Amino acid sequence: MPFSVLKLLSAEAFRSGEEISDALGLSRASVHNLVERARRLGVEIHAVRGRGYRLAVPYSWLDQDALAAAARHGFEVALQGDVDSTNSRLLALAQQGQAHKSVLAAEWQSGGRGRRGRHWQASLGGGLTFSLLWRFNRPLTALSGLSLAIGVGLAQALRGLGLAGVGVKWPNDILVDGAKLAGILIETHGDMLGAATAVIGIGLNVRPQTVQADYAATSVEEVLGRPVDRNALLLALLHELDTVLKTFDGQGFAPFRDEWQALHVWQGRPVRVLAGPAPALEGTAVGVDEAGVLLLATADGVRAIHSGEVSVRAGGGR
Ligand code: BTN
Repeated sequence: MPFSVLKLLSAEAFRSGEEISDALGLSRASVHNLVERARRLGVEIHAVRGRGYRLAVPYSWLDQDALAAAARHGFEVALQGDVDSTNSRLLALAQQGQAHKSVLAAEWQSGGRGRRGRHWQASLGGGLTFSLLWRFNRPLTALSGLSLAIGVGLAQALRGLGLAGVGVKWPNDILVDGAKLAGILIETHGDMLGAATAVIGIGLNVRPQTVQADYAATSVEEVLGRPVDRNALLLALLHELDTVLKTFDGQGFAPFRDEWQALHVWQGRPVRVLAGPAPALEGTAVGVDEAGVLLLATADGVRAIHSGEVSVRAGGGR
């Protein structure tokens, strides 16, 4: 990973390749290769012959000291430069007894995972990719609606930071003006009847993404129109998630239902529900029940749509 070179670069002044290679004890060719690698991963770097390299915008590093305030809410945050997937890693640690409220955040995920077997890719330094381990007092069977409650928490935290127009899309996307800002992947551990453990993975676009997705994407900085510090953002999200998760542990999804419906971008609108090769189900998204199950008013009555391998698209003949 090109972290060593990136740490020596700034947006204020150029730094020569020679200086960087001396500081790192690397050949000029290696420095060049690391700069090219950082660019391929999404970091914009200006290179000018005779002057060297300069970042187009400052890199907002995740920083243990800046994140120390998370401990006030009982979180223990670990930072990792490069990991396959924060969810996979934390899930493995959960099985070995990792503590409640452990958080793992990474600068880079080589195998970030999304819902429905998809990949989750964020440009280097351009996103927040983290997972949070929560040990519930309720069993696995009582976690339905958890991803919707997390969506409400993220939307509230983002609105608190000044982002206008944040909405949710069933079951667990965070959108602004129809473009995806964040996704949630929840994976659980435990038997059906005992207390459940969940690893809650969140991917949030902070800067415009250089990786093309097959859906419209946006980012916190595009919506806000100014740079943000990723540590401050992570702290704000953790603070809100703490409140949401405590409420959910005590009362489940029900207290979040009205707020979720108010945020739902397809509330009262025609949608098509796709589940594998079966024909699409057409109807109106009338809301969710107290377990977060989507209620679809169809020509044959109200149908309950459970998440899992389902995808919901705009309906109404589009
Ligand atoms: C989705 O929208 O499909 C969910 C995306 C979830 C991505 C996050 S990034 C941090 C955590 N680790 C992963 O491998 N995935 C989640």
